[in-house]
Amino acid sequence: MNWADAAAEYDQKDPLAPCRERFSLPPGVVYLDGNSLGALSHHVPERMRQAVEREWREGLIRSWNDAGWYLAPQRVAAKIAPLIGAAADQVIAADSTTVNLFKVLTAAMEANPARRIVLCERDNFPTDTYLAHEAAKRYGKTVRTVDQDTIEAAIAEAGDDLCTVTLTHVHYKTGRLYDLPRITALVHALGGRIIWDLAHSAGAVPVSLDEARADYAVGCGYKYLNGGPGAPAFAYVRRDHLPAFTTPLVGWHGHAAPFDFSPEWRAHPGIERLLVGTAPMLSMLALEAALEAFEGVSMTELREKSLSLTRLFIAGYDACLARHGFGLATPREDAQRGSQVALTHPDGYAIMQALIERGVIGDFRAPDILRFGFAPLYVSHADVARAVETLDAIMTEGVWQEAKYAQKKAVT
Ligand SMILES: Cc1ncc(COP(=O)(O)O)c(C=O)c1O
Repeated sequence: MNWADAAAEYDQKDPLAPCRERFSLPPGVVYLDGNSLGALSHHVPERMRQAVEREWREGLIRSWNDAGWYLAPQRVAAKIAPLIGAAADQVIAADSTTVNLFKVLTAAMEANPARRIVLCERDNFPTDTYLAHEAAKRYGKTVRTVDQDTIEAAIAEAGDDLCTVTLTHVHYKTGRLYDLPRITALVHALGGRIIWDLAHSAGAVPVSLDEARADYAVGCGYKYLNGGPGAPAFAYVRRDHLPAFTTPLVGWHGHAAPFDFSPEWRAHPGIERLLVGTAPMLSMLALEAALEAFEGVSMTELREKSLSLTRLFIAGYDACLARHGFGLATPREDAQRGSQVALTHPDGYAIMQALIERGVIGDFRAPDILRFGFAPLYVSHADVARAVETLDAIMTEGVWQEAKYAQKKAVT
């Protein structure tokens, strides 16, 4: 049986296949960009109608209490917590991933004044690197930027001067998956702390923050968690780090008693101290509703499905795409792969535009990466087969060479 015929058979046996019905996908579209913006779940539009027409229009300011708006960051966090292997009292939904990164980076640096070295991965998502440099400048730390394959050696080399390591669990470009428990243990053995960016993991790859005793984590609400454009992010702080957790980004929502309006800031005793200002409530409620799509989903089955999809895509690459000049940037070993596959091609941008025009949506990351995200809740093996066939056809016909596909848009 060839790889494309296998797709239908895999879908028949897929225990998560019915979850696709929880989403509202446009007909005819193969959506492989859930690692950038998750699809719309059916739970969201009705919840938005209720939030706007009843809670906002009728309830007005009363809804902060009567509709439970005030405690939404904690409720949302409690839904995210099992997806990242965390007890809920260490997770909060708030702000953006960037802002949450600033909070945990500064907290990690403040917690370890005597240690100087901060380790970053060279090709990490830029926001992570920018913030690490800025925070390090302010706390007198030295940033060492290292290649993916030399992280473990760099940790060892830093020795007892290691302050903080900041890594993205699943690499945003290549989809490479780091061994979170192993690296966390290496950092702890030297007395350092680690921050995991779970932007490309949460909702697609099982994570065990508590089991690994990870120190801090952050992640996005709008990718595999399907919270909608600009959805609030989340942050995790290990319970024993909470009492001493300090960051310059203090605001009234992180105060022990916000409605005392006291002139002095006093930290909330719990994870709520990471809250800053008023949450974007409509987005928060959309994320809360979207998380219902994970109801009853086993993370083991989610991972199996994700691997099955990415394996099939790689089989398609070997069978039909490699001959067109694509390279495979994602590791072939299951244990080193998140839920996305990245191909390289010098004309990647134009090729992706042509592919999108034919209804297969992925995205492009400069200089040459075509990214395909496989959200296990709504992507089928048949989608994978169609993506490979369409990309093969575009290359064979050479349609991507039309001038219109080379025109760069603001968002790639
Ligand atoms: C790995 C990673 N970290 C951080 C971010 C930044 O997230 P935000 O723009 O929501 O702050 C992104 C965004 O795509 C990301 O992929």
